Amino acid sequence: MMPLSVADFFLKLTQFDFRILSVIEVLMAKYEIVPTEEIAAYLHYSEKKIQKALNKLQQYKLILIAQRHYLGAALTFLGYDALALKALVEKGTIAQIGPEVGAGKESDIRLAIDDQGCEFILKMHRLGKLDFRATKRARAFIAEKSHISPLYESRLSAEREFKALSDLFNAGVSVPQPIIQNRHIVAMHIIIGQDLYRVKKNEFQTEKDILTLFNNIIHEMQSVVRQGYIHGDLSEYNIRLNEDNYPVFFDWPQYVETESKQARRILTRDLSNILNYFRKKFQMTIQKNVSELLLQYFENLE
Ligand SMILES: Nc1ncnc2c1ncn2[C@@H]1O[C@H](COP(=O)(O)OP(=O)(O)O)[C@@H](O)[C@H]1O
Ligand SMILES: [Mg+2]
Repeated sequence: MMPLSVADFFLKLTQFDFRILSVIEVLMAKYEIVPTEEIAAYLHYSEKKIQKALNKLQQYKLILIAQRHYLGAALTFLGYDALALKALVEKGTIAQIGPEVGAGKESDIRLAIDDQGCEFILKMHRLGKLDFRATKRARAFIAEKSHISPLYESRLSAEREFKALSDLFNAGVSVPQPIIQNRHIVAMHIIIGQDLYRVKKNEFQTEKDILTLFNNIIHEMQSVVRQGYIHGDLSEYNIRLNEDNYPVFFDWPQYVETESKQARRILTRDLSNILNYFRKKFQMTIQKNVSELLLQYFENLE
């Protein structure tokens, strides 16, 4: 059987199916693979009835059934999606779920529509998939704990992103307006425009336009630092130009705080990504000491 499309979740799954998914989610705080026996005990149903429902959920790829020294089940990302999307539908955030519009390194990006007919973005965080680098990066900010499930990592990542977007948006920084976060999903406004890395050189008429863009990016970086944040993965891949060609910074889960020990190193890296982009794309000459001056400026803010 094919995995369900998101719309199918709500047509093909019964309340009972969703209850089982929720129970597995709850018990996954305790078990990597949740024993069927425990699910049955939790819901006061026979193991046989639970097993039958688990088989259906596995056919739809919402869970994996695994045999340890006991028989058990674990949610897949698809199962986690189903729970989060259901919650967002019930809260009234989502009226319709639209198509996928992009898959980033560590997320799937989907359109959704609210009850006013307005489109917005659902960013579904997916950490700990078969991407060693992604896992390593996420582990860095979840210090100490040695084993963390990909679902939990993804939820933490979404929580971090939502916090950064909320703080920065409220302070007037140019970031997408966050709407709500549930589990590993962040809902936010769409930035109409295009990613900076896709912008063609000839879309800029004059040197002055290029310089304006550069200054606007630096200005926004300063505003971010003033709020105590450093993006941590800033480059032409995480900046979009809106309809007014004004830069909007997105993709925040890896931010660091300006008080962090690594702050200066990471800010320097963000800054050099931007300087390199302008050098390569627009052959902009940036005097050597400009980047030093900028860093000094950032430090004086702290
Ligand atoms: N709010 C948004 N509005 C419009 N497009 C977006 C928005 N957020 C993300 N995107 C698109 O999705 C892509 C991936 O998003 P991003 O947050 O960078 O995810 P990842 O962490 O996977 O890199 C971006 O390059 C951008 O094109
Ligand atoms: Mg990105």
